[in-house]
Amino acid sequence: MTVIWQLGALLSLLSLASAETGHAAWLRYAPLPASVARQYSAPSTVVALNISEVDPVYTAGQELQKGIQGIFGGKVTVANTNISLSSPAIIVSTLGQYVKAYGSETAGHVPELTDDAFWLDTTGDTVQILGQNGRAALYGAFEYLSLIAQGNFSKVAYATAPDAPIRWVNQWDNMDGHIERGYGGDSIVFSNGTIKNDLQRVIDYGRLLASIRINGIIINNVNANATLLNPKGVDGIGRVADALRPYGIQVGISLNFASPSANLVYGNLTTFDPLNQTVIDWWTNVTDTIYDRVPDFAGYLVKANSEGQPGPLTYNRTLAEGANMFASALKPHGGILMFRAFVYDNHINETNWKADRANAAVDFFRDLDGVFDDNVVVQVKYGPIDFQVREPPSPLFAHLRQTGAAIELQITQEYLGQQCHLFYLPPLWHSILDFDLRSDNKSTLVSDVVSGKRFNRTLGGYAGVVNVGVNDTWLGSHLSMSNLYAFGRLAWDPHGDSETILQDWTRLTFSSDPAVIETITDLSLESWPTYESYTGNLGIQTLTDILYTHFGPNPASQDNNGWGQWTRADADSIGMDRTVSNGTGFSGQYPPEVAEVFEDISTTPDNLLLWFHHVNYTTKLKSSGKTVIQHFYDAHYAGAENAQTFATRWERLKGKIDDQRYNETLFRLRYQAGHSIVWRDAINEFYHNMSGIADEAKRVGSHPWRIEAESFDLDGYDVYQVHPFHTASNFTGIVTSSNTTAGTATTTVPFESGTYDIAVGYWDMFNGTSKWVLSLNNKTIGSWLGDNEKYLGHEPSRYLDGHSATRVTFHNITVEKGDTVKIVGTPGGIEPAPLDYVAFLPEGVID
Ligand SMILES: *[C@@H]1O[C@H](CO)[C@@H](O)[C@H](O)[C@H]1NC(C)=O
Ligand SMILES: *[C@@H]1O[C@H](CO)[C@@H](O)[C@H](O)[C@H]1NC(C)=O
Ligand SMILES: *[C@@H]1O[C@H](CO)[C@@H](O)[C@H](O)[C@H]1NC(C)=O
Ligand SMILES: *[C@@H]1O[C@H](CO)[C@@H](O)[C@H](O)[C@H]1NC(C)=O
Ligand SMILES: *[C@@H]1O[C@H](CO)[C@@H](O)[C@H](O)[C@H]1NC(C)=O
Ligand SMILES: *[C@@H]1O[C@H](CO)[C@@H](O)[C@H](O)[C@H]1NC(C)=O
Ligand SMILES: *[C@@H]1O[C@H](CO)[C@@H](O)[C@H](O)[C@H]1NC(C)=O
Ligand SMILES: *[C@@H]1O[C@H](CO)[C@@H](O)[C@H](O)[C@H]1NC(C)=O
Ligand SMILES: *[C@@H]1O[C@H](CO)[C@@H](O)[C@H](O)[C@H]1NC(C)=O
Ligand SMILES: *[C@@H]1O[C@H](CO)[C@@H](O)[C@H](O)[C@H]1NC(C)=O
Ligand SMILES: *[C@@H]1O[C@H](CO)[C@@H](O)[C@H](O)[C@H]1NC(C)=O
Ligand SMILES: *[C@@H]1O[C@H](CO)[C@@H](O)[C@H](O)[C@H]1NC(C)=O
Repeated sequence: MTVIWQLGALLSLLSLASAETGHAAWLRYAPLPASVARQYSAPSTVVALNISEVDPVYTAGQELQKGIQGIFGGKVTVANTNISLSSPAIIVSTLGQYVKAYGSETAGHVPELTDDAFWLDTTGDTVQILGQNGRAALYGAFEYLSLIAQGNFSKVAYATAPDAPIRWVNQWDNMDGHIERGYGGDSIVFSNGTIKNDLQRVIDYGRLLASIRINGIIINNVNANATLLNPKGVDGIGRVADALRPYGIQVGISLNFASPSANLVYGNLTTFDPLNQTVIDWWTNVTDTIYDRVPDFAGYLVKANSEGQPGPLTYNRTLAEGANMFASALKPHGGILMFRAFVYDNHINETNWKADRANAAVDFFRDLDGVFDDNVVVQVKYGPIDFQVREPPSPLFAHLRQTGAAIELQITQEYLGQQCHLFYLPPLWHSILDFDLRSDNKSTLVSDVVSGKRFNRTLGGYAGVVNVGVNDTWLGSHLSMSNLYAFGRLAWDPHGDSETILQDWTRLTFSSDPAVIETITDLSLESWPTYESYTGNLGIQTLTDILYTHFGPNPASQDNNGWGQWTRADADSIGMDRTVSNGTGFSGQYPPEVAEVFEDISTTPDNLLLWFHHVNYTTKLKSSGKTVIQHFYDAHYAGAENAQTFATRWERLKGKIDDQRYNETLFRLRYQAGHSIVWRDAINEFYHNMSGIADEAKRVGSHPWRIEAESFDLDGYDVYQVHPFHTASNFTGIVTSSNTTAGTATTTVPFESGTYDIAVGYWDMFNGTSKWVLSLNNKTIGSWLGDNEKYLGHEPSRYLDGHSATRVTFHNITVEKGDTVKIVGTPGGIEPAPLDYVAFLPEGVID
């Protein structure tokens, strides 16, 4: 034994020193420190009463073996035979198989288990893990492993059941392998127009999903390609389903509504009218064909009449008639039809003060409640617009009383920094799930609507848009994986505490070291307020470029187009008037008690002020007495300032976690520090320019520690006016005159001699790698490449703008007044070595 513990301790040292890619996520089963491991004697026998090797109970047995061996270092055997109940072992089984093996009297203490529920009992010699079904037994095995992997050996005996039956993830994978809003590389499911042959990553993903009790996956983009229904596609769906069945995960697909006339091998109808019998027969055949291959197929997800997608409205049929057509085809097989509520007109006219995209979901669906078949679930994005940094809950949740409802959450950070800015999402999700809509003046938490409890529905739950990719890190960022983990935990129990969940995840993913726990907790819990501060405040939405990448700042893109994500900002005022009395009427879509709060500016919370009201920039906030515009300025400075601390706080963890994940995370946090300043300056300059109202603290437009690139002596560089103007310091940058020859920018240091951090603002565009060398008196300070696109994975930009603007910092440089500062920029591809400024930052200064 001693030898094994020592080996364990040695392994633990090795694992700290060696690289970890992130592929194992929170299922690392890292050896516990010997002092902790010694406190528990884990059984070395696992009895898995599986009925086949695709039974998740079999998977549970394998997982327990792997986990215990990893955590404790000993050898564990797995048996499928009955053992005496008194021998030290772990028994994992469905309750049914257990009773068959040992008799019902041995299960007298187990409470009644509902769908997917399990019983975990570690009080006796034998650890009992009993599931209501196979997947539930697997959930129980993962629960047990999670406890011991965290060094928690307390004796427990409890049953736990899910709050909601639907706990699905949605992948937005296209058949060519590209992922819409995916920031961690290409698809693990598709490549080159079809489903991959090698599905190992799908299997690994299934394991992660089962450990957080996800029970369904939609494998392709909601903007769906009909060719998936071809025989080759159906076979592929079958292979994915086979790969995930041992994890208890059912497979479903997104459909293109026009498939019957989409020129498939057999899709040659002249119509896709959902009431046409030929069309109905066509879908029935497709559905039957899929179920022949995949008897436990989960169902379909449909995005219809949204953002250019076809749908029933094309034929003057209602959305319910469209949904029910699929529901009828699925019904005999027990399948579910998830119908997205994201239906809106993207050509509305801003000159109409009453036009409002936020009204669309309720306008389209309110009168259809009660008309949908009972296996239809309406899948509703959490807010009325689109995954913004701050939204009120969708009022549609209050209108689906006779219809199953699911909430759509986004784990992939589409509008929220695309995994390049830290954003721990559960606090945002809680702001929606815990919201009380007060239907009929009674408690109506959003979480109780989607669980089915509030309106007594049998179907409902959670759909999380995940978009993991082939990158070893899955999501591109190690820290973003806490969001996937927490999604599963909250879909099971929406009352789960954000911090507790995060700390479990941290212990499993990194370490139980208190400094690691504290740092990751603090950064994660600060991440939402920080990001909100330097992007869009007071409910104005994420002020990103909605017409291009959804990544960097471009507030002007919100307005003067048909998309309806308007701010209605002009020289004097800003915000959407969504009142009933004078505006779009949106506030009236909530039940009366809530409507009343939002209708009245004096009761609307400040963080949603501009969501509901159009006000002057000089309007004072209830919370602080500041004007709206001064709040914008102050919040942007405070948010960017806090983001500067993330990287330096992370640096305290050097040596406490493995180098690779430490480095990769530090790289992202440093990037965020630079990009948060891009955001801060862009938004502040934009509203300063629009309103003409000065910042009381005189910071906006003032950069005392910067030397603008356009003021350097330029050789082989030209001055360039950047658009949008506010994404360059002083609105201007420089680019090389030729796309092959290096340019040189030279100046002298005007600041007093001393030690500085030198920050260089530049642009890093997609499809080109420039090289820059910075020197002082011809001594090289540093050089860098414009190759962030290889590492960051966010939606790239081909222009000099707020997405490509970034900066690099060199620390603790000794500088003499009058030193020659030189940057030599060598263009690469379409990237003309663009430069914005060089800042000399004394300690503690952020400029
Ligand atoms: C993609 O598929 C086509 C035909 O379906 C095939 O000709 C081509 O070689 C494939 N490309 C790759 C990279 O696999
Ligand atoms: C659908 O996928 C096929 C390959 O299976 C591809 O040829 C076609 O371009 C795709 N259509 C769209 C609209 O992406
Ligand atoms: C569609 O194709 C099938 C099989 O090739 C054929 O029997 C049918 O007539 C075609 N229908 C139309 C509308 O072209
Ligand atoms: C139904 O669709 C079929 C095939 O596209 C078409 O021939 C037929 O006219 C349609 N029926 C009606 C009533 O529109
Ligand atoms: C039924 O659907 C399958 C694909 O799902 C297709 O291969 C087959 O040709 C279809 N049969 C008819 C009669 O349309
Ligand atoms: C749908 O209905 C509108 C008004 O009732 C009518 O003008 C239009 O022609 C109809 N469209 C179709 C495709 O039937
Ligand atoms: C929007 O409405 C205004 C006023 O009715 C009209 O002048 C303008 O052309 C419309 N714009 C668009 C893009 O339809
Ligand atoms: C809930 O719905 C079920 C049918 O699904 C019904 O039997 C039961 O009475 C309903 N309960 C309440 C409180 O309405
Ligand atoms: C009422 O709406 C009009 C536009 O119809 C707008 O100009 C005005 O500012 C609004 N009044 C208030 C008090 O919000
Ligand atoms: C808002 O500003 C406009 C233009 O300066 C002014 O006419 C109006 O009185 C202001 N409204 C409020 C409520 O302060
Ligand atoms: C981490 O970064 C340091 C310093 O940049 C470097 O020396 C080390 O090799 C890196 N380690 C890994 C595993 O990437
Ligand atoms: C992919 O993973 C590697 C190593 O884990 C990382 O350095 C890189 O940034 C990731 N790339 C993307 C696009 O996320």
